Amino acid sequence: MPALATAPPVADQPVTVHVCVTCRLAADAPDGPRAGARLAAALQEAAGPGVTVVPVECLSVCKRPVTVGFSAPGRWTYVYGDFPPESADLILAAAAQYAAAPQGLIPWRERPEALKRGVVARIPPPADPEAA
Ligand code: FES
Repeated sequence: MPALATAPPVADQPVTVHVCVTCRLAADAPDGPRAGARLAAALQEAAGPGVTVVPVECLSVCKRPVTVGFSAPGRWTYVYGDFPPESADLILAAAAQYAAAPQGLIPWRERPEALKRGVVARIPPPADPEAA
């Protein structure tokens, strides 16, 4: 079996949490902020220095709001769905686990249920051109 990733994690790089601000719940008021925008605002307010929260418009997982992604240099990128807008604390705790896990691979038994249920995709880090 080939190695899981080609690039080592880069130490001291913050985790980027992308949040879809266009995700909407059926219960969202038509003229109010969408669930994704509310979650992004809560994350931006609560995030510490190790996490960069980046609002984005659509991660193509529109049927599973709210969608977020975790990424960092040298680490696998994960995309998750189904986060309610009140999930900021859970997401930031998971981002800390992601930052501490080798290559961002949080062991399955250590993942919060929301991550186990909500995982949509995982994408390996880009190939290291220096290693070719
Ligand atoms: S609207 Fe949120 S993923 Fe498309």
